[in-house]
This record gives sequence, structure tokens and C-alpha cells, in this order.
Amino acid sequence: MNSEQLRQLFPSPSAIPPAYALSTPIEQREYLVNGEIKIWNGPVAEVYSPIHVMEGGELKQVRIGSQPVLDRAAALEALDAAIRSYDGGRGEWATMRVKQRIECMVRFAKGMKEKRSEVVKLLMWEIGKSLADSGKEFDRTIDYIFETIEALKTLDHDSSRIQKVQGVYAQIRRGPLGVALCMGPYNYPLNETYCSLIPALLMGNSVVFKPAKYGVLLNRPLLEVFRDCFPKGVINFIYGEGPETSGALMESGKVDVLSFIGTSRVANILKKQHPQPNRLRAALGLEAKNPAIIMPDADLDLTVDECITGSLSYNGQRCTALKIIFVHESVREKFLETYCAKLKSLKAGMPWEDKVMLTPLPEKGKTDYLKSLIDDACAKGAKVMNENGGTVVASLLYPAVLYPVDSTMRIYNEEQFGPVVPVVSFSDVRTPIDYVVNSNYGQQVSVFATDPETVVGLVDPLVNQVCRVNINSQCQRGPDVFPFNGRKDSAEGTLSVSDALRVFSIRTLVAAKQSDLNDKILSEILEERSSRFLNSDYIL
Ligand code: G3H
Repeated sequence: MNSEQLRQLFPSPSAIPPAYALSTPIEQREYLVNGEIKIWNGPVAEVYSPIHVMEGGELKQVRIGSQPVLDRAAALEALDAAIRSYDGGRGEWATMRVKQRIECMVRFAKGMKEKRSEVVKLLMWEIGKSLADSGKEFDRTIDYIFETIEALKTLDHDSSRIQKVQGVYAQIRRGPLGVALCMGPYNYPLNETYCSLIPALLMGNSVVFKPAKYGVLLNRPLLEVFRDCFPKGVINFIYGEGPETSGALMESGKVDVLSFIGTSRVANILKKQHPQPNRLRAALGLEAKNPAIIMPDADLDLTVDECITGSLSYNGQRCTALKIIFVHESVREKFLETYCAKLKSLKAGMPWEDKVMLTPLPEKGKTDYLKSLIDDACAKGAKVMNENGGTVVASLLYPAVLYPVDSTMRIYNEEQFGPVVPVVSFSDVRTPIDYVVNSNYGQQVSVFATDPETVVGLVDPLVNQVCRVNINSQCQRGPDVFPFNGRKDSAEGTLSVSDALRVFSIRTLVAAKQSDLNDKILSEILEERSSRFLNSDYIL
């Protein structure tokens, strides 16, 4: 697509389908603290969509509203509310029976479902995600909630008995850690943040939640649902600049668990701000540069299909995206030709359009950054292999396939997180394997081959370098019951439906040496069901 064609993709205001138009800007001043939706009277930040409209022959970025910019005091007020609600582990939520906590969460999920259309619309406007993918993000989050509830029941069943070992009785359960600070990324502002928020809540923690830099307003329709479903102070929202908000919380030393998805640079800052590093548990999802390795015997049609979605779905803005493609020299030409042809058939346009795949990019300065990666590679000998690749109009960048890419180029190591596809040719399979070994990242890899022996030759060395090797399939997080993690600078801790429950909790036991006295005490507690910890309740 040339620049004129790209320009034409931006609609006039009247061409936006009424079902997806935002009738009025959303001026958010509300924030949820201590069970109350408060009004912020301080500064706000303007929120602009990546979507532009054509007005009077000019492209104009759409202003969709404003969001609160809390100061340090307001952020600390949210932290205090969480601390008070946890009450040193004696709070209503922390001590509530698991069954009742689950009932609150089911109520929340039902309330959340009712907000689907509002949230999906805001996902499109705030981060430019297609209608189909925004809907999937919402539905996947709801599914995640129910899957997590089932996993919690299983966890609870497994802990619902007293065991006796070497004359010592013990009941072992997982207990909450305390106050969690949950921060998510802009590319999955709903799913990825809620995938840590939900298990953190279900395990009995109190939470301060800071939405990502883009995708803030979409949480607004859910504030009341949160307020109405959980005891006061269990879930609190903060908005604004890092140093004033999350920074202040970390410096207080009162955050027990940090869940953060973003860059390792910010994760390092946050962790270092905490004065008691041993108190802090962390679950981090950070950068990745997942490679595809295409062997001579690969099924090229399947490989191209997987590499297209792997590298370009949501414009490559997925932590799991394929961010560098190593292709054996014997199939390089055919691969490049087929990949570029397939790319040409992808639809670019506005998020609400049917079958659209390439949409505007939300990050400020992103197209300049991507362009600088393309220019750097081209100055060092790479070419843009697809027609009009790298053309920029406003927030749209038409994907660029770069070949031949080598280690002198920035794109070889930098995580582009956008629609730029570097292709490296190799003759010796040690080249891509060494790339993975020497990389600072270790999330996933995709290998493409048809001969089982070839597959094994890649799987065996790579499983000790990354956390998931995908055979003839793009890299991805799901299904969400599988472990999602990474080595090196790509992650800390493991998330999945069941692992996340572990991340936000700690094994705690009540033990007693066997004696007549202890037998009597334990029997009475169990018979009368007087303890929330010591019991053999079975949640159906
Ligand atoms: O941004 C990273 C996401 O966790 C990736 O999830 O592989 O399902 O797109 P996905």
C-alpha cells in the first residue's frame, strides 16, 4: 500500500459506523479507592486514539477523552486502603472462606460480561486493536476467570484434609501474601492485567491496580462492578505517572507482591525502589525476541501462514510475536516470495472493519522508532522486500520485510514490537541456535520442519534456552492453562491458570504433635467447622 492508499484508510467522521463511534469524549475523573468511587479534582491527561479522521483534507488524531493523573498522596491513599483491608491478614477478604470469595468473583464476572460492548469499543479506540481481536481479548478474560475459579477449587480440594507424618498433624493451604501491586501492558490492557489481578484477588490479597499507559479508559465501566462485588479496600485503582504513583508505593516498602508486564528497565526500577527486597515477591512478563527457524524441509505454505500471524497479528505488538525469522538459504527465496505475497493480501484499515489485520499503532513516536530501525538496517545492506513496506501515514505503518538482516543491525537484537519483519538467511543451523543462546531473552521459539529428526535436532538444544518450543506453529501464550514464562530477561515467575494462584500465595501450614489434647482440639474444630483454615470443606 502506498501512502495515498494508506491515507484513504482513515475515515471521515461521518463514515465511522454508528455502532462503533464514540458519541462524546470520556472525561474520566473517577477512581476507586476503599470501596468508594471518588472524583479526582487534580490534573488529567488527554487521551488520544491511534485512529485519525480525515477532516477538511487533513488527518486529525481523535481525542477520546481524559484520564486522572493522581499525585503521590492519592496513590498512597489507595495503598493505605489496601493495607487496611488486608489488616495484617485479619481482614474480611483475607480470612473469607474460599467458597464465598469465589461467589464474589462469579458476581464480578457476570457484571463484567454486561460491559462487553463498552469495553470492546474502548479497546478499539484506545489501542487500535481490531474488533475481532478486542472481542477475543474480552471473552478470553472471562474464560480465564472461570478457569481460575475451577483451578482454585482443585487447589482447595487438595488442601482440604489434615495429614499425619511422623506423629505430626498438619493442614497445608496456600494463603495470601498481602498487598499486591498489579500493572499491565498496553497491548493486552484487559487480558494480561486481569490475568494477574484475578488470581491475586482470589487468593485473598488486597490489590492496587495501575492500568497500562494506553487502555486506561476501558477499565472505567468496570469500576462500579469492582466496587459492588468486593469488600471495601480489596481493589483500588491508581492512575498517573510512574514515579508519583507506582514508585511511591514501592518506596513505601509495603507492597508484598508486584506483578508487572512491561520492560525490564521499568521492572528493575520498580524492584530497586522497594526498601526490603526480600519481602517483595515478583511476577514479571518482560521483553522477548522470539525467533522462527525455518529448515530446508519445512512445509512452506504452513510456515508462511504461521509466520504471518506470528509476526503481524495485532501489528506485531505481542510479547510472543515472532520478531526475527531465520530461514535456511535453500528455501529463502521461496519463503520471502510467499511471505510477501501473503502480506499483500492482508487487509489494513480501521479496527472495526471486517477481517482487518493491520491497524493504527497507539504508541506515541512508534512509527518514527520503527522507521529508524528500517533505515538503520537499510543503511547497513538490508532491503525492504515488499512493495511499499515501511510507508508511514500518521499512526499507520505498512509492514516492512527486511532482508538480508545481520548482527550489525539494530533490528537483529532490539525488540521492535511492531510491524517490521527481519529475515536472516543461514546455512548452518548453529547460526539460529547461537542466536538464541546469546540472546538476552528466552521466552519462546518456533521451529519449522517436517522431518522428526530435524525437529529433534532443534527441540533438544532449545528447550534449555527458552520456555516453549513451538513445532510448526507460531509462538503464543495460550491455551492459558499452559505455563507462560521466560528465561533470562524475558520473565520472572510462571503464569498460567493454576500457576498464577501459586504466584499470589504462599504455602502455610498449621501443625500439631499428636497428643490426646491436640486430638481433642482438632476434632472439635473440624466438627464445629469453626476455623476458616482448619477444615475439610469440599467446594462443589
Ligand atoms: O503480549 C503478550 C501476550 O501474553 C501474548 O499472548 O500469545 O496469546 O497473543 P498471545
